[in-house]
Amino acid sequence: MRSFVTSSLLLSVAAAAVIRDPENHGHRNNKKFNVQVGPRPYYLVDNMDEGPLKKKLQSCSEGPFKVSDFNFAHRGAPLQFPEHTLESYKAARRMGAGVIECDVAFTNDRKLVCRHDQCDLHTTTNVLSHPELAAKCSTPFEPATDGKPANVKCCTYDFTLAEFKTLCGKMDGFNPNATTVEEYQDGTAAWRTDLYSNQCPTLMSHDEYIKLVKGWGLKMTPELKTPAKGVMPFNGYTQAQFAQDLIDAYKRAGVSSKQVWPQSFLPDDVFYWIDNEPAFGRQAVYLDERVDTVQGYLNATASIPELKRRGVKILAPAFFALTKLDENKKIVPSEYAIAAKKAGMKLVGWSFERSGRITEETIEDGTYYYELVKDVMNNDGDIYKVLDVLAREVGIMAMFTDWPATVTYYASCFGL
Ligand SMILES: *[C@@H]1O[C@H](CO)[C@@H](O)[C@H](O)[C@H]1NC(C)=O
Ligand SMILES: *[C@@H]1O[C@H](CO)[C@@H](O)[C@H](O)[C@H]1NC(C)=O
Repeated sequence: MRSFVTSSLLLSVAAAAVIRDPENHGHRNNKKFNVQVGPRPYYLVDNMDEGPLKKKLQSCSEGPFKVSDFNFAHRGAPLQFPEHTLESYKAARRMGAGVIECDVAFTNDRKLVCRHDQCDLHTTTNVLSHPELAAKCSTPFEPATDGKPANVKCCTYDFTLAEFKTLCGKMDGFNPNATTVEEYQDGTAAWRTDLYSNQCPTLMSHDEYIKLVKGWGLKMTPELKTPAKGVMPFNGYTQAQFAQDLIDAYKRAGVSSKQVWPQSFLPDDVFYWIDNEPAFGRQAVYLDERVDTVQGYLNATASIPELKRRGVKILAPAFFALTKLDENKKIVPSEYAIAAKKAGMKLVGWSFERSGRITEETIEDGTYYYELVKDVMNNDGDIYKVLDVLAREVGIMAMFTDWPATVTYYASCFGL
């Protein structure tokens, strides 16, 4: 008995000495960390039409592949891993993302958590499988009937942080025709996968995300999520306080503002950071969704100098808005991109690898991200043609991606 106690004590001391930080794996001195891109980039390059870009990318097939700040991991690696989970962030890191995103929502005890939307728990977690929690949803589950789709809405602010942490992540998706919650939750797109959805993918608070990514020596891009109309102030919680709480979390954790790109779709959030937290405001990213309509795109383009005067330094529209086809059907920088560069703005694109397969059929049916260049898109490898123009002609600072490996392959090849 005595010898058992002694040896297990010794063992645990030895283990503690070697594994000081189980998430760190010696990354800070980066010698042993190998970025892995997996087979997908090779599949895409093989699939490209012949030409100089394909040749160049083929010449980089054996790496080395490096961590790059050009690579913003959008929600982790949600092409295959449930978004905003520990497992998804780990996959993003392994694939070379230099910057990892947490979309920031709040719970009803005003704790910040990583979720894409204030109200997507019914499609990104298993909350509906917990009857006692599901009963607290803003709109509890109503099955589909007589051609009316199923209806449900579960928000982060329906729950405490402790309740949120009991949930498991799942691939974002739902079946609108469901008559049971099991059917409702079974809606992953065929071109994604449930392969990594087992064993309760780990939901993250914003503080846990900061600790994790800081420990890896990587950078962070938190997006302050816009609550639906009428939600704010939430029991006295204002949008400005929400914006402040986000920044305070980095200060508390001792993270330099240079490591953080806070983002928002709301200009007022960006202006708040510029005015009240200028060190963080310098890297604030205005997510510009005005480009989604023709008139909005024109207005947005015209407003760029005014935004610059107001202190905005980084613009991020959906990447379709940064290129177009010229009269010879060549992909070229768009008017918006040209105006932004002229004003000295930096640009970030979102989001690569969110469109599934590129086929003549899917392109014909319409695709948000490739809408303006669809005449020259007909196979999966064509996404590299667009990335190449964005990187080398538009000169984007970074690209958000659902699968960082695809961007890592390109970025390492071109020294970004
Ligand atoms: C739901 O039902 C409609 C109408 O029958 C059908 O067109 C649609 O494909 C169904 N959707 C799913 C995800 O099963
Ligand atoms: C564009 O700007 C004009 C003039 O300020 C405004 O009246 C119009 O509502 C704007 N349209 C869009 C879609 O933003």
